[in-house]
Formats: sequence, structure tokens, C-alpha cells
Amino acid sequence: MLQGKHILLGVSGSIAAYKAAYITRLLVKNGASVKVVMTEASSHFITPLTLSTLSGNPVITDFVNKEEDSDGTWNNHVELGLWADAMLVAPATANTLADFVAGQARSYLTAVYLSARCPVFIAPAMDVDMYKHPSTKENVEKLVARGVELIPPGVGELASGLEGEGRLAEPEEVVKYLENYFLARSPLAGKTVMVTAGPTYEPIDPVRFVGNHSSGKMGFAIAEVAARMGARVILISGPTALSTPKGNIARTDVVTAQDMYEASLKALPEADIIIMSAAVADYTPEQVAHEKIKKTGGDLSITLKPTQDILKELGRQKKASQCLVGFALETENEETNALKKLAAKNLDLIVLNSLRQEGAGFATDTNRVTVFDKDNNKTDFELKTKQKIAKDILDKVVEYVAKK
Ligand code: CTP
Repeated sequence: MLQGKHILLGVSGSIAAYKAAYITRLLVKNGASVKVVMTEASSHFITPLTLSTLSGNPVITDFVNKEEDSDGTWNNHVELGLWADAMLVAPATANTLADFVAGQARSYLTAVYLSARCPVFIAPAMDVDMYKHPSTKENVEKLVARGVELIPPGVGELASGLEGEGRLAEPEEVVKYLENYFLARSPLAGKTVMVTAGPTYEPIDPVRFVGNHSSGKMGFAIAEVAARMGARVILISGPTALSTPKGNIARTDVVTAQDMYEASLKALPEADIIIMSAAVADYTPEQVAHEKIKKTGGDLSITLKPTQDILKELGRQKKASQCLVGFALETENEETNALKKLAAKNLDLIVLNSLRQEGAGFATDTNRVTVFDKDNNKTDFELKTKQKIAKDILDKVVEYVAKK
């Protein structure tokens, strides 16, 4: 959920500031880009060097850049506020919370907070009496009423030796909180997306096969983006050199069209959205030789028999609640053929790829597609990377499913 997200971590002056190192580490490990802003006071508890090393970005503590080799340039808090997908203040002290409530930009951290348009999370950490104090209670309530997300402190032994509420939530909990926040707001949260990708190989003998040039890149991009949009993904892949993208993706490798047919039908009941981007062989050798076929000097004929049309079978079996998306690769009468497939195979959407478009098709990193839905809507997309096309296709699917 945090893959590619920009997280601005604000650290204020509590003994719990050392936990900011673990939080930074976990965020980075989960794929987030992290920039850290520290208050002057927090740098007495943990060094900016620790957090800049762990985040891989310079840490900012002041309005003016005082680094030796800098010319005293201004640190732009507006830009930083706009960069963030989320701002997390952990630990948030009573003093910083009071500044946030009052809108007093006495520290660079508060200036960034006032400039941020993204969701803001506060994870308070302070002594039990400070946390219980009516001033703090009121400040937290005011911030929550203004839409700030509270990651409540834990109860337990505090640095002062006292017991009670005020311990910074554990780093794992803090990161989980952020993940759950993004997950709940992801357009494919709670959905299972099944994606087929790559070619199929139809064996002729133990060393040869009938195949095609599909690289699997389009299907893998769809799987990756769907996972990033919150889906649980079932990726059924033909032979490809690609590694499984990060995220909630369960991959099943198959070789032949028959294998893909069986794996797809098995996964069908679990899927809400089915995207068939695989380039499945339409024909397979009628006989597979047990031994390598030797050359004879004469011609060789191989009789091919049709494979099962997976998409058609899924279209026949799908429930009304399921959304089925097919691909069409056409070299002539593209639109007419794509629309015929949409109707004949009982699809909800069809993605038309034209091999005549430069930069589109197999083994390239770009693609150009047109998406049709069964309500006669047509959307042409520009030539883009397969990642961006994947997002376009999934956005169309989300839009279609929402209207259903
Ligand atoms: N497909 C499938 N099973 C097959 C062949 C294709 O599920 N045996 C799926 C592909 O994954 C794709 C869609 O069908 O989503 C269209 O594939 P394409 O080869 O363009 O079309 P076909 O239906 O095979 O028709 P034709 O070859 O006549 O164009």
C-alpha cells in the first residue's frame, strides 16, 4: 500500500524520537519515499544524520539551509507540503500539537504542516500527565475535529518511570495505520483481480514448441498496478522472464493453453474482475512426440488442433457481479473485430491493441490501446508506458464497475 507513496515524517522533541529511525526504516522497506523534517529539540534525541541515512534524503530542521556548502538557501515548506501523499508526525509532542492547533509556524515542521494538503497523522508521545492534561486533550480533540488522524499512544512504562498512556505507538503499528488508511481509500480495496499474462507454449516434442512473441509485460503491469490500487491479485502467467511485481500478488505459472484454461477456471469463483491479457495459442499440436523429432530431409507437417477459448468459457460462466475484460490484437478491421469479440464472448470491456501502431504490441515497453465497454463507450489512449496503460485500463474498469 505504501509502494511509491511520498511520506513526510515530522519528528518532534520527545525521547521517543529514537523510534523515528525504525519508522523511517519500515516506511522505506515498504516502498515509500521518505523525507524527514525535525524540530530543533528532536535533534537532541536523535541525529539528523541517522534519519537522512535511513531515508536516503536530506533532513530539514530549519527555514534556512545552513549546510557548509549551501549558500544559505531557503527551504521551501510549501513545495515539501505539496510533495507529500501523507504527513506523519511521530513522535508528536505536546508543544508541537499546540503549535499545530494555534497555527504558529515557530518551527519549520509547523510551517510544513500548515502548507500540507495531504492527510496528516499524529502519533503523540509524552509523559502520562502531559497527555492527560486538559490542554493536550483539547488540542488533540481540535486537531481530530479538523480531520487530522490520531494514532493513539500506547499504555505502559514511560521514560519518566511513570506508568500510563503516552508511549509512542510501536513503529509497526504506526506504519500499519498508514497502510490501512491508504488501503481503505484504494479504488480496488476488497476486490480480487485475476490477470492472465504472457504467451503459452504448445509442445511439439520434448525440445520444441509453438509459441508467440508476448513478453508478459502488459499483464504484469496490470497485476502490479491492480495491487497498488488495493486489490488482491491472482496472476496466471505463461512462460516469461519477468519476476513477480511487489504487492499482494499470488502467481501461478503455466505453460500451455490447457494449463492456463484450468488455472483460470479454478480461480474464476474468487475473482471480482478478470483481465485476460495473455496471448493464448489458438492451436496446439494434435500429437506431441515423445522423443525429439529427427530430420528426414523431406518436409514435415504438424497437424494443429484448436485450443479451448478461455475467454469465451469465462464469459459463459461469469456471474453478473463479475467484470470480464478481454484483449483483442487485430491487424485489420480493428474496431469491428474488437466489438464482435466483446459481444460474442460476453465481455464487459475489451482492450484493443493494434500491431500497426508504432511502439505498440509485443515486447515493447509502450503500448497504445482503445478501450470499449459493452455500453458502447469508447476511449482512445495515447502511446504510453505499459505501466500507465495498465492504470488507464484499471481506471476504466473501476469506472465501469461503479456504474454497474
Ligand atoms: N484468448 C483466450 N483463449 C484462447 C485465445 C485467446 O482466452 N484460446 C483470449 C486472449 O487472452 C485475449 C482474447 O482472447 O483476451 C483475444 O485474443 P485474440 O487472439 O485477439 O482473439 P481470438 O479470440 O483468439 O480471435 P482471432 O484469433 O480470431 O482474432
